[in-house]
Amino acid sequence: MAECDCSNQKEQKERKDVTVVCRCEDITLEKIREYIDKGITDLEQLKRLLRVGMGPCQGRTCTPLIIREIAAVTGKPLSEVPLTTFRPPTAPVKLGVLAGGECDD
Ligand code: FES
Repeated sequence: MAECDCSNQKEQKERKDVTVVCRCEDITLEKIREYIDKGITDLEQLKRLLRVGMGPCQGRTCTPLIIREIAAVTGKPLSEVPLTTFRPPTAPVKLGVLAGGECDD
């Protein structure tokens, strides 16, 4: 029978698995679940409180994951979870293009 390494077991219990959902704003799944448990099940509110979806990718990565989590907790189908407003520009545009009207190639 293998000998118990108690210090290793204690270390494993104390260590929490961290899943980063919004890489741009460094927001974890645990943080999102904490806010959902408080009753905040609206993506727009989560966006305002945690800044999820406001990073450089504009939520392309994290929004589907958060919507899925909200749907799982609320029992709603994914199609009934409201999305946030996507605002242009969704790609960087040089100021010179806007000011001078030159073509952006
Ligand atoms: S991953 Fe959330 S804004 Fe980019």
